[in-house]
Amino acid sequence: MASTAATRSLADIPTLAQLYRSAGHRHVSSSTSDFPPSAAINARVGLVRGDITKLRLDAIVNAANKSLCGGGGVDGAIHRAAGPDLLTECRQLGGCPAGEARITRGYRLPAKHVVHTVGPIYDHADPQRSERLLRSCYEESLKLADTSGVKSLAFSGISTGVYGYPSTDAAQVACETVRKYLDRDISALERVVFVTFEQKEVDAYAEMLP
Ligand code: APR
Repeated sequence: MASTAATRSLADIPTLAQLYRSAGHRHVSSSTSDFPPSAAINARVGLVRGDITKLRLDAIVNAANKSLCGGGGVDGAIHRAAGPDLLTECRQLGGCPAGEARITRGYRLPAKHVVHTVGPIYDHADPQRSERLLRSCYEESLKLADTSGVKSLAFSGISTGVYGYPSTDAAQVACETVRKYLDRDISALERVVFVTFEQKEVDAYAEMLP
């Protein structure tokens, strides 16, 4: 059983609507968002800074590698918190190509499931391909969450650590992909949360959201 110290449930994670209210209705700068403001989306999307392994949600999204056998960064943190049974299940999945996603149980994590997605290693020579793969990570993770009955999902900053994806560009891809997916109105997801960890991600999302 995960330590209950400092775990956070959905009620502890502010929605964009709550953040806007507390920020005094500061508007999203139009230069970073091509989407009209949406109260419905602002009520379904959350933003929180902290350790994703402490979130008591239906699922958290891991920035994995193709082997799915753990690593450093958030991958290492999730495997450490989940315990060895996570690796045992991951080994049975036979890996995952970049841009795709797989789901497992959460074991000792407070989250019920882990969605493992493999982001692109940022390619400065072909940023468009990197963007396509990163967009696919978010889209495939959302689809897998929906087909798995997940109602609350938190994303770590896929590819923005070891894989070198610029945080601001990645935040733009993340926000646009989630917005487009939720706008299609086919999803049963009640909450999608962006988790920032290092200051560079906090700054990146601050440009996009409250
Ligand atoms: N909670 C939330 N976010 C975290 C945590 C945590 N406990 N630890 C790290 N992060 C954030 C980092 O700040 C970073 O912005 O996760 C983001 C993703 O960084 P990485 O974990 O390095 O993932 P990525 O860039 O996708 O590289 C994946 O790194 O760890 C290995 O096995 C992994 O080979 C794979 C590669």
